[in-house]
Amino acid sequence: KWTSLSIVGYIYNSIYINTASMHFQPQNSSHPALAQKGPLPPYKNHTICSHLEPTPDEALEDRALLDAIVWPKPPAPTSLNQTSDPVHSLFAILPSKGGRERRVGDQLEALVQMQDFQGRPKHYGGDFLVARLHSPKLGAGVAGTVVDHLNGSYSALFPLLWEGPAQVTITMVHSSEAVAVLQRLREQRSDRFFFRSLFRSGKLSENTVCNMCLPHNRPQEPLCNYTDLHTGEPWYCMKPKRLSCDTRINHFKGGYKKDLVTNKEALLFQSRVNIKVVIHASGPDRIDLRNRSIEPGPVQYNPSGYYYKGSWRLFDGTPVRQFDAKSITQCLTGKVMNMYGDSTMRQWFEYLRAFVPEFNLRSTSTAGPFMAVDCQHNILLNYRCHNVPIGFPTIIASELRYVANELDRLPGGPNTVVALSLWAHFSPYPVEVYIRRMRHIRRALERLLVRGPGTLVIIRSPNLRALDKEYSLNHSDWFSLQLGRVLRNMFMGLAVVFVDAWEMTLAHHSPHNIHPPPDIIKNTISLILTQVCPAKKS
Ligand SMILES: *[C@@H]1O[C@H](CO)[C@@H](O)[C@H](O)[C@H]1NC(C)=O
Ligand SMILES: *[C@@H]1O[C@H](CO)[C@@H](O)[C@H](O)[C@H]1NC(C)=O
Ligand SMILES: *[C@@H]1O[C@H](CO)[C@@H](O)[C@H](O)[C@H]1NC(C)=O
Ligand SMILES: *[C@@H]1O[C@H](CO)[C@@H](O)[C@H](O)[C@H]1NC(C)=O
Ligand SMILES: *[C@@H]1O[C@H](CO)[C@@H](O)[C@H](O)[C@H]1NC(C)=O
Ligand SMILES: *[C@@H]1O[C@H](CO)[C@@H](O)[C@H](O)[C@H]1NC(C)=O
Repeated sequence: KWTSLSIVGYIYNSIYINTASMHFQPQNSSHPALAQKGPLPPYKNHTICSHLEPTPDEALEDRALLDAIVWPKPPAPTSLNQTSDPVHSLFAILPSKGGRERRVGDQLEALVQMQDFQGRPKHYGGDFLVARLHSPKLGAGVAGTVVDHLNGSYSALFPLLWEGPAQVTITMVHSSEAVAVLQRLREQRSDRFFFRSLFRSGKLSENTVCNMCLPHNRPQEPLCNYTDLHTGEPWYCMKPKRLSCDTRINHFKGGYKKDLVTNKEALLFQSRVNIKVVIHASGPDRIDLRNRSIEPGPVQYNPSGYYYKGSWRLFDGTPVRQFDAKSITQCLTGKVMNMYGDSTMRQWFEYLRAFVPEFNLRSTSTAGPFMAVDCQHNILLNYRCHNVPIGFPTIIASELRYVANELDRLPGGPNTVVALSLWAHFSPYPVEVYIRRMRHIRRALERLLVRGPGTLVIIRSPNLRALDKEYSLNHSDWFSLQLGRVLRNMFMGLAVVFVDAWEMTLAHHSPHNIHPPPDIIKNTISLILTQVCPAKKS
């Protein structure tokens, strides 16, 4: 059962995504979609990954997942002048339907008209906008949903959830023209990010370039193949000249390729010009709701939750418990909590270890693995980072583990909590790479839930982050948004709890940060501990 933390569908850029129907059912393999094979995607053609063929059922699921995140492509602009300019663009709060007084429970709509740098209205869609309704006075905030009308105008929709003031903020994250560049980079330049490994034996040491799919065009240069035997996840390094492949010591971030975009394209990625710039209102940008009576009007989408008086509340009304040091220990008593993922999952471990004595083996590494143990209360907390393409500073090769393989080693059961957050390091790669990884994890979770009924599985979504030009090209929120959609669709139908870190960072007043600030982490921990220890029914 998908718990109360999830939603059943949402609209994004005109695509209504009914997430409930997305969970993949194995299909008839002679489905017409599989009849003709298209050309290989660029990231596979000419690389040693060309042999990685999904099975017919997997290919069908890939298709459905990719179809659900299709993004409108703009015509090629001839100059920056013709691209979306947040400063020239405007939004207006629409009058309420029938002119009646707005009530808590109604929906608020703001209409955005995008314009270019010369103030001419845009006539096509694809701009990446985010919207928030908030009140600093009340510590309240909720994420809006944006509907792309594909003609240069967009609707931002918000549920009205509190009495009092509420202000609309709409931000252009990227123009449609910038998104088109990101889309090209993702499909064609997944090599823009690379890694290295150190090899050492006796007095000899060398380091070489590593990646998921190295190019095929140098048959004379031997490779080391670190493909995982259980999952089949590919990973390769160039073979060191004088050392053998089994002398690999570690894995670290190699760097970024430069000059991936033309000078003209670079103009689409200017801080304070067209990356995360607020769009102004043509009239009032706020309302003041005086009417307390809840008489819900037609609301087209539901958020996961919202802030009120600084605390995250669930949209469906399930109370979120608040925890202090004593109740955290009480809640975790007798539990084993295994956290896997990137640094956004490490933040959960770092928050909780303040309440559980840490068993400190290697405090200098950010990669872990980390462990905290409270023998008196039988609490065990583990954190382990996910495997390649993780870009942490340095990881010992023997500590590189695939999450799916780690999950296969857990007995599971009602005292086991598993928490996962994998996304940020996948953004430079084609979505198929992420789908494959998540599919292996999903299969391992299915086995775990059968083997250890009652295991609580928590999956954290991507969140928004601070962006400048460089970060946009490698790690834009647009990539994260798309991975988040895939994640939600892939785990729909499995008995897991989804933590919507995207909405929790979008609805919050603090600036976007890859590592959300302590206030958001505290709210997140309250949310997950509420799942671990639900309030006793009276
Ligand atoms: C599979 O699909 C094909 C074409 O859609 C159809 O002709 C065939 O009868 C189906 N087979 C089964 C076993 O459903
Ligand atoms: C690989 O790319 C080349 C062009 O670079 C193209 O001609 C060829 O058809 C592609 N191969 C496959 C199998 O897609
Ligand atoms: C862009 O607009 C400015 C001012 O309107 C104009 O001077 C300039 O020539 C235009 N550039 C291009 C490439 O059209
Ligand atoms: C764009 O499309 C929306 C929805 O169909 C419509 O309400 C709006 O009037 C259109 N705007 C323009 C400028 O055509
Ligand atoms: C790497 O090893 C895997 C698993 O043994 C194998 O399937 C794959 O073909 C190998 N890759 C290359 C390029 O030889
Ligand atoms: C990717 O981001 C890094 C900063 O994290 C930056 O140094 C690098 O230039 C970026 N790569 C590209 C191609 O912009």
